[in-house]
Amino acid sequence: MIENQSKLDSFTIINTNNYDYKIGKNGEKLVYGSFWTNKQRYGNSIQEISYRACFKPQLPDFFLSKYSNSKSIVLDPFAGRGTTAIESALLGRIPISNDINPISKILTEPRLMPPTIEDISNRLSEISFDVKESADIDLSMFYERKTEGEIISLKNYLIARKEEGKEDYIDKWIRMVATNRLSGHSKGFFSVYTLPPNQSATQEEQIKINKRLNQKPEYRNVKRIILKKSKSLLKDISPDIRKNLFDISKNVIFLEDDSRNLKELKDGFVDITITSPPFINLVNYVKDNWLRLWFNGYDYSKLKDKITILSDLNKWSSFIKETLKEIYRVSKIRGYVAFEVGETKKADLSEIVYKIGIELGFRHISTFINMQTFTKTSNIWGVDNNKKGTNTNRIVLFQKI
Ligand SMILES: C[S@@+](CC[C@H](N)C(=O)[O-])C[C@H]1O[C@@H](n2cnc3c(N)ncnc32)[C@H](O)[C@@H]1O
Repeated sequence: MIENQSKLDSFTIINTNNYDYKIGKNGEKLVYGSFWTNKQRYGNSIQEISYRACFKPQLPDFFLSKYSNSKSIVLDPFAGRGTTAIESALLGRIPISNDINPISKILTEPRLMPPTIEDISNRLSEISFDVKESADIDLSMFYERKTEGEIISLKNYLIARKEEGKEDYIDKWIRMVATNRLSGHSKGFFSVYTLPPNQSATQEEQIKINKRLNQKPEYRNVKRIILKKSKSLLKDISPDIRKNLFDISKNVIFLEDDSRNLKELKDGFVDITITSPPFINLVNYVKDNWLRLWFNGYDYSKLKDKITILSDLNKWSSFIKETLKEIYRVSKIRGYVAFEVGETKKADLSEIVYKIGIELGFRHISTFINMQTFTKTSNIWGVDNNKKGTNTNRIVLFQKI
C-alpha cells in the first residue's frame, strides 16, 4: 500500500477510476493513470509554439497544481520552448528557465510579455520591407524570392533594433513568431512544404523533398502570417491574464547554462523543478533548429558541441546524475522535482532516474505513468499487453529531505 495514498486520493485526476498503484522492481511506488488528456483539457493558446520533444502544458500544470503555491519558484533546467515557464507564470508562480539552446529564451520570453494584436499590427506596418534583399546562404529551396526578401528585411530590422538598444517586447514578440513560422508543412509558414516546424530539413534534404513532391516555393506574405499566428496565440489572453504575466515577467530568470552547472543559482533556492532531459539517440536539437538559429544570428555549427546529444545509456545516466545533483543543490528542503523521461526500448529510464535520485539523497514520492489513450476496458496491471493504451510519459517525483 502506498504511504501517501490519501494525498493521491485528493488529486483531481480526470476520470478518477482510471488510476492504480503498483510496487516496482526496486520497491518504488508507481502510479498509473490518465492524469491529463488532450481531448479533455486544452492548454492556453499561448503555449502553441512548436519545439522538438516538448511536453504538453498539462504536464507542468498537473504537478504545479498539486505541489506548489502561488509565488513558488519553479525551475526547468531543460526549458525548450518554455512550457514549464509559461504554465508557471499563468498560475502565478515565478519561473527560472534554463536551456543551453539560445532559441529557448527567444521562444519563451515574449510570451511572458504578450503585446496586443493592435500593438503587433502597428509595429509590423512600421517595418519597411525591401524584397530585393537576399540571404547570405542559399535558401532558394525553402523560399520564393520575394518572400526571402521580406524575411531578410525583417531579420535586418530586428538586428538593427537590438544593436541600437531599441528592441522592445513588441519586437521580441515579432521575432518569436517569425522564428516559429520559418518552415513547416502548411501555408501558415513562410517556406514551401517541408518537415514539421520543430525539425528543419537541411538545404540538401529540402532539394530532395522538392524534387520528390515536384514543388517549388510560392510567395508567402510574411507580415500576414505573423499577424495570423499572433491572433491564434493570443486567443486566450485576456487583459487580466496579460497584466498578471507582465507582473510575473519582472521576476523571471533566464539562464543559458549547462544543466550540470547552474552557476547563477544559489543553494536551496527552488521550490519545484519540472523538467524533461534530452532524449537518448533521438533528437539533434542543433540540426532541428539550424534555420531558427540562422534567423536569429547564431552560428549553429559553433553550438554543436554545447548541446548534449547522448547516444549511449551509460553516458545518459552519468549526465542525468550530474544534472540531478545540481538540481538537489538548488532545491529547497522539502522542494519537489518532477523528472519526465520518454519511452525507449533500451531500458526503463524512470527506473534509472529513481536509482540515481535515491543515491543522491532524494525521497521518492512516486513514479507517475500517464496513460495517454487509456480505455475503460484496459487492464492496468497488464499494461505491457495493453494494445489500446499508450504509455507516453513517465514522471519520477522526488522531494529533497
Ligand atoms: C526534451 S527537450 C525539453 C523540452 C521542454 N520540456 C519543452 O516542453 O519544450 C530537452 C532540452 O534540453 C536542452 N539541452 C540539451 N543539453 C543541455 C544541457 N547540457 N544543458 C541544458 N540544456 C540542454 C535542449 O536544447 C532541449 O531544449
